[in-house]
Amino acid sequence: MKMIKTGIVGAAGYTGGELIRLLIHHPQVSLQWIHSNSQQGKPLEAVHPDLIGDSDLVFTQRVDTSGLDLVFLCLPHGEASPFLQQHSFRKETVIIDLSTDFRDESDDFVYGLPEVNAPRIKQAKRIANPGCFATGIQLALAPAVKEGWCSSSVHVTGITGSTGAGKKLSPTTHFSQRTQNVSVYKLFTHQHLKEINQTFGQLDPGFDGQVFFVPYRGNFARGIWVTAYFPYSGTEEAAKEVYARFYQTAAFTHVSQQDLDLKQVVNTNKCLLHLKKEAGQLVIYSAIDNLLKGASGQAVQNMNLAFGLDEKMGLQLKSVAF
Ligand SMILES: NC(=O)c1ccc[n+]([C@@H]2O[C@H](COP(=O)([O-])OP(=O)(O)OC[C@H]3O[C@@H](n4cnc5c(N)ncnc54)[C@H](OP(=O)(O)O)[C@@H]3O)[C@@H](O)[C@H]2O)c1
Repeated sequence: MKMIKTGIVGAAGYTGGELIRLLIHHPQVSLQWIHSNSQQGKPLEAVHPDLIGDSDLVFTQRVDTSGLDLVFLCLPHGEASPFLQQHSFRKETVIIDLSTDFRDESDDFVYGLPEVNAPRIKQAKRIANPGCFATGIQLALAPAVKEGWCSSSVHVTGITGSTGAGKKLSPTTHFSQRTQNVSVYKLFTHQHLKEINQTFGQLDPGFDGQVFFVPYRGNFARGIWVTAYFPYSGTEEAAKEVYARFYQTAAFTHVSQQDLDLKQVVNTNKCLLHLKKEAGQLVIYSAIDNLLKGASGQAVQNMNLAFGLDEKMGLQLKSVAF
C-alpha cells in the first residue's frame, strides 16, 4: 500500500507534538509538513526537544494541500472552522479535527469514537475526534446507557492533568497554582457534556438521564481519571458481563478485574475500566491518557480505520506503569 501523505496544522502544540511522535514512526505514513505560525523555520527539536534525532522536519507556515491524503487539525476550539473556510482541501483528503468545532453530528463530520462508530469512521473523509473528558466518560458509561440503566441521573467526577489545557501558559496551568493543589471548574456545565449526551442518545434513543459532571484540575501533567456511578439493581457480575461483551472487539478499551491506577494508561492509547457494585450503585472507574486516547492516539486510531489499516498500527505503546 502506498504511504499516506500527511500534514499537521497546529503542530507546535501538545497534541501536535504527540501526533508527530506517533506518525514519524508509523509504517504507513509519510509526514509531509508540520505547520506553525509562530515557529516557522525552526527545526522540529527546537520546539519539541523530546524528538531530537528522530526527524529532519522543519516547521512551516505554508499549508500545501496538493496531493495530500490526510490532514490533522490541532487548533484551539473555534479556530478549526475558520481555518477550513480559508484553506480548501480536496474532498478525497481525509480531515481529522481535534477541536470541538465539528463534534455536532449535524455537521458533515463523523464523530470519531471507534468503540461506538467504527463502521462509519471506516467510510468517513471528515472525522471529529472526541474530547478527552468526553472519551473517558463515554467509555465508562456506553454499555450501561445501551442497556437503559442510566435513565435517571448519573454522577461523574473527573480529574485531568495540566497538559489537557494546552501548551500556552495560563493562571490555572502555572506551576505555583497547579502543584500540591486541586480545583473544580465548569461545574455541571463542561463543554464535553454536549457530545456525551449526543452519543448516549444514539446508544439509547430513550435516554433522558442527566449527567452531573464535576471536572477537577489535577496536580499532575498527564492522564484523566473518571469515576461514574448510578443506582443499579443488578449484580456486579451481570454488569461485568455486559461490559465485557460490549468491548469484546475493542482494540484499546479493556475491563480490568483488578483495581486500577492512572500510570497504567499514561503513554498508551488504552482506556481501562473497572466496575464495582456498592450501596446499590454501579461504580465505574475509567482511566486514559488525555493526549493519547483522549486526543492524538485516538486520532491515529481513527486514521487507521479510515485508511483500512490495522486499528492498532503505530499505537502499541508501553505505559509508564511505575
Ligand atoms: N491537550 C489535550 O489533552 C487535548 C485533548 C483533546 C482535545 N484537545 C483539543 O485539541 C486542540 C489542540 O490542543 P493542544 O492541547 O494541542 O493546544 P496547544 O498546545 O495550545 O496548541 C495549539 C496550537 O495551535 C496553533 N494555533 C493557535 N491558533 C491558531 C490559528 N488561528 N491558526 C493556526 N494555528 C493556530 C498554535 O501554534 P502556533 O501559534 O505556533 O501556530 C498552537 O501551538 C484543541 O482544540 C484542544 O481542545 C486537546
